[in-house]
Amino acid sequence: MTDDLRSLEAETAAAIAAAPDLRALEAVRIGVLGRNGSLTALLKALGAVPAEQRRERGAALNAAKAAIEAALEARRTELEAAALEARLAAERIDITLPPRPAAPGTAADGSIHPISRTMEELTAIFGAMGFTVAEGPDIESDWHNFGALNIPDHHPARQDHDTFYLPGPDGRRPVLRTHTSPVQIRTMLTQPPPIRVIVPGRTFRADHDATHSPMFHQVEGLVIGRDITLGHLKGCLIDFLRAFFGIRDLPVRFRSSYFPFTEPSMEVDIGWNRRSGELGAGGDWLEILGSGMVHPKVLANCGLDPREWQGFAFGMGIERITMLKHGIPDLRPFYESDVRWLAHTGSDPLSPASLHGGV
Ligand code: PHE
Repeated sequence: MTDDLRSLEAETAAAIAAAPDLRALEAVRIGVLGRNGSLTALLKALGAVPAEQRRERGAALNAAKAAIEAALEARRTELEAAALEARLAAERIDITLPPRPAAPGTAADGSIHPISRTMEELTAIFGAMGFTVAEGPDIESDWHNFGALNIPDHHPARQDHDTFYLPGPDGRRPVLRTHTSPVQIRTMLTQPPPIRVIVPGRTFRADHDATHSPMFHQVEGLVIGRDITLGHLKGCLIDFLRAFFGIRDLPVRFRSSYFPFTEPSMEVDIGWNRRSGELGAGGDWLEILGSGMVHPKVLANCGLDPREWQGFAFGMGIERITMLKHGIPDLRPFYESDVRWLAHTGSDPLSPASLHGGV
């Protein structure tokens, strides 16, 4: 190969490597292989080469041309890939970037109300145990709220000063439900067993002081199956209470009690220190919820044969367990919509309740 060809090849290779983009590369190609390109000129001059050298010269020129074309092609692929990368990077919309919460306590910083938060936590804990969420109306019939639950006519909950009654046809007065237990009835009437539901929701009683509000919230639980026992009730509630309060060895006590719609019935207490308010230690007991095995009459009222089906139910106040968990002393601020209280007591809307992080 002659020197002129060698240096042409070297220069072209350097120019190809240095080309910063496809346009520059095209300029290099035209400069060498175009109609007036430098290699084209050498090819054109082949005719003037003495016959005995022509063959060798022709082969050298063709080899140089092939090498330059290959180098151009390789660089083009490289530059095209880089251009695509740059375009993808420039046009990227990162939909995964989480919004940045405003500084705590500022107006833009919304928070989850502690009642809603507790409902989310209940759903996370019981959801992990296979429960689904059921709902019912706030305005109930006397039969769903009382009668079907085996609550006798003379029961104090039925008295006018305890319950909000609404005017109704034929003297049958609808009630603002006094507990979430009527949803036990509604669920058993509409859903074939086995059943495993929780029912968080609003409840109403004619009460008003620092620890009672005419509107408050409860969560009901209902499990119906062929061989559900008191052992299941105890295991379920012990696991729930320990998960909810985040205390692994929280003492839990089951104390015999009475509800018309469960038999046997039990009040459930947790261990705490009455003086300091600390949960889980201290030797005192605090009543948390009511529970029991669903009364055979209630099953029968819902068309279930008590010899075939049995189960347990429980109910507790959502404000009460929320106040205990977070050391909130007064019930009233729950309903006052004071943004300072909400900013202080509410929780981060961007970290929903989950068992992984501990509810
Ligand atoms: N409904 C009862 C109450 O409001 C609580 C409860 C529910 C008790 C289910 C036993 C079973 O006090």
